[in-house]
Amino acid sequence: MKKILIIYGPRGGFTEQVADSLKSQFSRKFDAKSLPGSMVTSSTFREFDLVIFGIATLGQDSWNAGRQDIDVNQIQVIINKFDFTGKRVAIFGLGNSILYPEHFCDDMGIMEEILQGKNISIIGYTSTYGYDFKDSKALRKNQFCGLALDNDTEHEKTESRITAWVDAITTVLEK
Ligand SMILES: Cc1cc2nc3c(=O)[nH]c(=O)nc-3n(C[C@H](O)[C@H](O)[C@H](O)COP(=O)(O)O)c2cc1C
Repeated sequence: MKKILIIYGPRGGFTEQVADSLKSQFSRKFDAKSLPGSMVTSSTFREFDLVIFGIATLGQDSWNAGRQDIDVNQIQVIINKFDFTGKRVAIFGLGNSILYPEHFCDDMGIMEEILQGKNISIIGYTSTYGYDFKDSKALRKNQFCGLALDNDTEHEKTESRITAWVDAITTVLEK
């Protein structure tokens, strides 16, 4: 059975809630686990086939520059230092498209660029259909480079977006 690790930061908000919800949904078909970044060691990391990173955009020009959250710090260490050989990666991001319409889920895009720079293969790009925003660093042509969620102002859409993403990733993993 394929193993999925959902690594998230920060804790205590929507990012954590979404990580838990993804874990429940993926557990129907896979061995799925969710952990805040700071609880992930290189030996835990080694066991998994798919790694999902979940982060929130918190308003700096570069990812995690202002807050220095411990879980997000460790996600940066994981991306820079851990061995991704044979693993696939997907990303989800929390944001707010009403308050930050020109920077919606920017940090998801910053993270994806870092991963691409390390030749890490990323799955789970999504359509922007149904979103209302002006710009985002997470845009790749007409898609987001992961699952973009706005639980602040569109919480009613979150569950169906998660389900559609889980289905799409499941299809890729089962091929
Ligand atoms: C100080 C601050 C800055 C933010 N900047 C952005 C932003 O630039 N783009 C965006 O899409 N959302 C932004 N947000 C919204 C958060 O990403 C959103 O509220 C998210 O759910 C926070 O994660 P959490 O619920 O896990 O704490 C910001 C929120 C805060 C508090």
